[in-house]
Amino acid sequence: MKVLISDHIAEEGKEILKAAGLEVVEKVGLSPEDLKEAIADVDAILIRSGTKLTAEVIAAATRLKVIARAGTGLDNVDIDAANKRGIVVMNVPGGNTVSAAEHTISMMLALSRNIPQATASMKAGKWEKKKFLGREVAGKTLGIIGVGRIGSIVADRARGLKMKVLAYDPYITQETAEKLGVELVDLDSLLARSDYISVHVPLTKETKGFINRELFAKMKDGVMFINCARGGIVNEEDLYQALVSGKVAGAALDVFEVEPPPKDHPLFGLENFICTPHLGASTREAQKNVATAAASQIVDYLLHGVVRNA
Ligand code: NAD
Ligand code: MLT
Repeated sequence: MKVLISDHIAEEGKEILKAAGLEVVEKVGLSPEDLKEAIADVDAILIRSGTKLTAEVIAAATRLKVIARAGTGLDNVDIDAANKRGIVVMNVPGGNTVSAAEHTISMMLALSRNIPQATASMKAGKWEKKKFLGREVAGKTLGIIGVGRIGSIVADRARGLKMKVLAYDPYITQETAEKLGVELVDLDSLLARSDYISVHVPLTKETKGFINRELFAKMKDGVMFINCARGGIVNEEDLYQALVSGKVAGAALDVFEVEPPPKDHPLFGLENFICTPHLGASTREAQKNVATAAASQIVDYLLHGVVRNA
């Protein structure tokens, strides 16, 4: 049986597939047309966030039995189309949560202390000590929108930094919030009271474009905003306007509506904007976790008919 790997996956995952006697074909960065050709005769596909498994691509697969996502988000897979064809879809929800949460905290601190801007300035031969006056996070309020696996770890690390943590999540209970040491509030209170706001919801029909002009207007003047969840949750044009007006003092994005974003994206022209190319899960530890778990899921399903999410 044959497995197509169409995104960069840690070696340990590939070894598990080969050791089980599966044929591994690696083709990264395929165009939709090339992907349709490559998926046609495979039994499984192993992906991260780069591969878009649309209904059209899935329709081109004649033998596909399982889609394994080495990571959390399944917004790049048309699950309905897979289900209609009887193709099982599995992900690894917990494998990269610590890495994604640590990246969020890194973004918050980098924003607060102008680390990317100061690095660029020094590399340009300058010594602009006065220009890069930062702010402490201790004693400040962090508002977390979506307190699931990653949002919970962000809350824990932020409390370690002596921040007060507010949470908005209509699906968690007061008891869970108390265990996490966060104050559960409504969305408007979170927006009005937070010095920092970080988003950790999935990208769904409900959350697409969720953080928009209307919500930015309700935020505290000079708030700092972080999105390490999914592009598309935040309206990038509205974020641009909020940064230009100074309503939002700084923003950090790890994820974009279109990835990679256009080179002339308006946000890239703003000094109070920092970013990374979807690096939330890009650590040795997380990549080993998700690759080995997803590869084991494929082996278990193809060879033993066992379905499980790691
Ligand atoms: P999760 O499902 O564990 O948590 C999401 C939380 O959001 C849940 O508690 C849910 O109740 C809440 N939620 C859903 N809709 C909401 C809404 N409208 N308003 C407020 N809360 C809402 O997910 P997770 O594993 O913590 O992942 C969070 C996000 O991070 C996802 O978008 C995921 O794709 C993304 N992610 C990004 C990276 C990266 O590399 N940057 C890595 C892993 C995950
Ligand atoms: C995820 O949802 O797990 C992330 O997007 C990580 C990734 O695959 O890069």
